[in-house]
Amino acid sequence: MSPCDLDLILKDVSLKKDENLLRGIEGSEDAAVYRLTDELAIVQTVDFFTPIVNDSYLFGQIAAANSLSDIYAMGADPLTAMNLVMFNPEIGLDVLQEIIRGGRDKVEEAGAVIVGGHTVEDKEPKFGLSVTGTVHPDRFISNSNAKVGDKLVLTKPIGMGILATALKGELVEEEDIMEAINSIRTLNRDASLAMREVGVNSCTDVTGFGLLGHLMEMLLGSGVSAVVWADAVPKFERAFEFAEMGLVPAGACSNRKYVGDRVQFSSKVNEIVQDILFDPQTSGGLLISVSAECCDDLIKELEKRDVPTRAVIGEIVEKEPGKIEVI
Ligand code: CO
Ligand code: CO
Repeated sequence: MSPCDLDLILKDVSLKKDENLLRGIEGSEDAAVYRLTDELAIVQTVDFFTPIVNDSYLFGQIAAANSLSDIYAMGADPLTAMNLVMFNPEIGLDVLQEIIRGGRDKVEEAGAVIVGGHTVEDKEPKFGLSVTGTVHPDRFISNSNAKVGDKLVLTKPIGMGILATALKGELVEEEDIMEAINSIRTLNRDASLAMREVGVNSCTDVTGFGLLGHLMEMLLGSGVSAVVWADAVPKFERAFEFAEMGLVPAGACSNRKYVGDRVQFSSKVNEIVQDILFDPQTSGGLLISVSAECCDDLIKELEKRDVPTRAVIGEIVEKEPGKIEVI
């Protein structure tokens, strides 16, 4: 079972209602929004995972960028963060120090502050952060408000899960996939600021459920359907060669099951491309649903803020909610 499958089990446990809880677990949202006053809500999220690269400092940066991402996906600003550390002291405390340093540098780049943390001993190291942000209670961007006619914009390439599998299998060196590593350690802040500037309908970040899994959640929550243009989806170049070698993480398979027959592929979308579309991402980009009229403005705003990837990958259509047609 992937951690994401386990996340779903949380939904089976009934939780107390609270009128100030504006977004909770029910909408497959990765961050919760809780209203404090009419002008202020806090946004809370947590994420951590095992190293996906060998360089400890880079891993710290990636884990922190990933943990901050759910705050940015909601159009909120990160404020404070706490380290979550599981570590095996036999590995050497200098390694842990590098991980924490990488995390700190990302949090500081985000303009937030680390206020504490907790460490437990564990055979396999894990690192991440619990992040608290703020947003106006009327102005957060949910993952369930996509509208028919919207365009879908993606702000980072996909295929990192496949590259991480190749890295683990020692079929590729870190320096050969730096383009991808630099992408996933980049904050989604600038993409978030761009979408707030323009005004968009819906947003989610692309992580464990892969592009199609997260898109499906957005569509189900919004009661709409989508067409995705497979060729328009940005993909890390080397993901193809490793996917062809069968280096596809188990999570891609569970994501395929999760989406099930809601997705339909046209005959020109081959298995390799399908695997990449289901590939679980770490610290992936924002998937934004923006009205057709505002789409050009969003692309311009992303360009202005030097967000290197700003691809229009599909559109929202009126069909059975949750359906995805990949052509
Ligand atoms: Co999660
Ligand atoms: Co998320």
